[in-house]
Amino acid sequence: WFRNVPLAPADPILGVTEAFKKDTNPNKINLGVGAYRDDQGKPFVLRAVREAEQQIIDAKMDKEYSTITGVPEFAPLAAKLAFGDNSEVIRDGRVFTTQSISGTGALRIGGQFVEKFIPSKTLFYPTPTWANHLPVFRNSGLSIQPYRYYNQETLGFDVEGALEDISKMPEGSVILLHACAHNPTGVDPTKEQWKKLSQVLKERKILPFFDMAYQGFASGDVDDDAFALRHFIEQGHNVLVAQSFAKNMGLYGERVGAFSIVCDSAEEAIRVGSQMRIIIRPMISMPPLHGARIASRILSNPELKKSWLEDVKLMADRIKSMRTALKDGLKAEGSTLNWDHITNQIGMFCFTGINEKQVQKLIKEHSVYLTNDGRISISGINTGNVAYLAKALHDVTK
Ligand code: LMR
Repeated sequence: WFRNVPLAPADPILGVTEAFKKDTNPNKINLGVGAYRDDQGKPFVLRAVREAEQQIIDAKMDKEYSTITGVPEFAPLAAKLAFGDNSEVIRDGRVFTTQSISGTGALRIGGQFVEKFIPSKTLFYPTPTWANHLPVFRNSGLSIQPYRYYNQETLGFDVEGALEDISKMPEGSVILLHACAHNPTGVDPTKEQWKKLSQVLKERKILPFFDMAYQGFASGDVDDDAFALRHFIEQGHNVLVAQSFAKNMGLYGERVGAFSIVCDSAEEAIRVGSQMRIIIRPMISMPPLHGARIASRILSNPELKKSWLEDVKLMADRIKSMRTALKDGLKAEGSTLNWDHITNQIGMFCFTGINEKQVQKLIKEHSVYLTNDGRISISGINTGNVAYLAKALHDVTK
């Protein structure tokens, strides 16, 4: 039966962790997957998560089936986090939100919705983008096309390139936008550039699909990081939004996320929601309980929420300090290259600009693991390994 099944390549991101685990070098560093580590290099469970989890255990909750759209209290809380406490579209009942299997699951059901109800079935993605975006949308049955995003020369956002490509997108297409902390480049449009994008996309009648996987991780503030999404909505866009609580609540393996669609009316949101249920049910039946219960408690209890937001800031600040430490370390090693982009970029990742050969050298000669595109997850850096990393990075770039 299975003689003709070929061996598939390892995942471009999760495969890095597999290779790292096999390495016996005590100095090895994993800068592959975007998963936060504390300064001891250990996974970090947020205080609010521990507390909420204890409350759930103490409450001896049952394990009955949830609903197709998840734990009932979760979706409205997730929507409020994304759209804001005073969101008009929420007040008007124009938003449909469902719990999802983290950000990936949100993208997948969103992709399926586009395939079913947006006649163009075409989604434009920024180059580069998160490696998993392409198979997620391809598997949803969409035609996927690139638009320019990152400028290799300026190491910044290619605003002219993006706008030119947008001007050629057929009306009725969907555009994928990273709401903040663009993965893998760490380069976001400025507020002014977001405003321009919003205006042009509106004129061109392109439907924005926001992937918001890092709310809180760019600036340390969840409201600041929602600027682009909220601005687009204020400007009257209908939008699709995928939210992940993997990074900002550290709920990686719990798979907690949400998917929303902003509709024209409450009546439309009801119709859209009815179709989303039909998409979700045969795929996963319904999303799981535990992580969404944790997130719901955190988002609805002022004390837990305060503690959570403090920890979001703590994580974002540690990442910022590690950017500076790495840049200083490279200078101390005698590197004469310009490493300003390490501190200019934001979010969990730094797009170092090193080529594939240099990446392989870092892995083979220094046991520093990263993805092939030269992206490093800053959260894997700490005060104990930054000097080693700077030396290794200098060695492959001098
Ligand atoms: C990453 O880009 O490293 C994260 O989004 C984790 C993942 O699932 O790939």
